Amino acid sequence: MASSSPDPASATEAGRTFPPGFLWGTATAAYQIEGAVDVDGRTPSIWDTYSRTPGKVRNGDTGDIATDHYHRWREDVALMADLGVGAYRFSVSWPRVQPGGRGAASQKGLDFYRRLADELLEKGIQPVATLYHWDLPQDLEDAGGWPERDTAYRFAEYAALAADALGDRVRTWTTLNEPWCSAFLGYGSGVHAPGRTNQADALRAAHHLNLGHGLAVRELRSRTAAGTQVSVTLNLHHVRPLTDSAEDADAARRIDGVANRVFTGPMLRGAYPEDVLKDTAHLTDWSFVRDGDTGTAQAPLDFLGVNFYTPTLVSAAEPGGSAHRSDGHGASAFSPWPGGDDVAFHLPPGPTTAMGWAVDPSGLYDLLLRVKADFPGLPLMITENGAAFDDYANPEGEVHDPDRIAYLHGHLTAVHRAIEAGVDVRGYFLWSLMDNFEWGYGYSKRFGAVYVDYPTHRRIPKSSAGWYAKVARTGTVPP
Ligand code: NOJ
Repeated sequence: MASSSPDPASATEAGRTFPPGFLWGTATAAYQIEGAVDVDGRTPSIWDTYSRTPGKVRNGDTGDIATDHYHRWREDVALMADLGVGAYRFSVSWPRVQPGGRGAASQKGLDFYRRLADELLEKGIQPVATLYHWDLPQDLEDAGGWPERDTAYRFAEYAALAADALGDRVRTWTTLNEPWCSAFLGYGSGVHAPGRTNQADALRAAHHLNLGHGLAVRELRSRTAAGTQVSVTLNLHHVRPLTDSAEDADAARRIDGVANRVFTGPMLRGAYPEDVLKDTAHLTDWSFVRDGDTGTAQAPLDFLGVNFYTPTLVSAAEPGGSAHRSDGHGASAFSPWPGGDDVAFHLPPGPTTAMGWAVDPSGLYDLLLRVKADFPGLPLMITENGAAFDDYANPEGEVHDPDRIAYLHGHLTAVHRAIEAGVDVRGYFLWSLMDNFEWGYGYSKRFGAVYVDYPTHRRIPKSSAGWYAKVARTGTVPP
């Protein structure tokens, strides 16, 4: 039947146009950009402690100053206004707004985010706040951290405090960013803070993150106005088997279990998948899961945030082979894959970024179609996508990054194709607005559309910033 409504997503010789209302944004996280770690009452987070521990972060870098965003936030909002983006995804620093992770709020800490949100709104940029982007207050880690159940309740209390203070300005919230990293890199392989290496603890952490998420969603819902959007952001892995052998298929199933379904199970289906419980039964009996917990974790969401960088290629491990070596998540003698000891990771084909991650936009396309098939009706938002390259300022003071433009072009095309295939993707956030502290890699990896000259903190928009600005302004990705 003929319809008079415009095609919601169209592809012509002029390029691929996204549906009206598609949200274009950039993303950052507090510890990666703010600096000012001991200012206005902020207490240390696990990343302050970890980055000050010799040998943990490349070059001994810390977030002490980072991009000095705590003092340059107005300039950074102006940069975003120049980009023409409609949204900004940032994270609230827990130890800045609730020092020590318990008790009273810090008004000075909250004021920073109030001012930031006001300035964004003033410029027509929608604030999208993430509550937890990995900066657990050190005091809570000292009390046991995420493997302890109480941390989930502390997180809910912090969510309530943030919702009360910022809910009038911030209308889109994300509870957790990439809980897989918090649990399995933080407590399993130890390449992230707090740097613990115990797989049973990592699974306990995963559960308490799931529980804390559900509790936090309830606080956000009950304390904010109707229409407020609540979400979680997962770094879903698109896991592909190396061959079509049954052994490789089983390796992919296992990794999919502890990468994805250990979170989507409770959060979106209200239960842990049986195969994940079985694969990890030699590590824990899961007795820390109490009646009702997974029901709590399954709090209705307005959309699911998806972070995607590269697909994951696995096979059954050769006996005596070196598993976990190229899973892209940093080198450690300890695995971030509980129950995946007999799995080998391979570098997928294609060019690689400065992180050594393969560039393969088909992974994003396939992932989006799979999420739609698994969770029909759930709107999606790409809350992070981007790439690190070895950018530098030339003698004219310009930064040219054609590889990043190619990466963004490929991945945005994949998102558009997924929308054409019926996936409900509502927006896209480029990681990152500017170069920043890339966790265990320190400042050695640059993900920004805007270059940061660290000695002076001068910001220089790269060529990709101009390219992305045009996409955001026109809603069209060129051919
Ligand atoms: C995911 C994380 O959320 C973000 O903090 C990080 O910088 C990027 N990926 C790039 O690794």
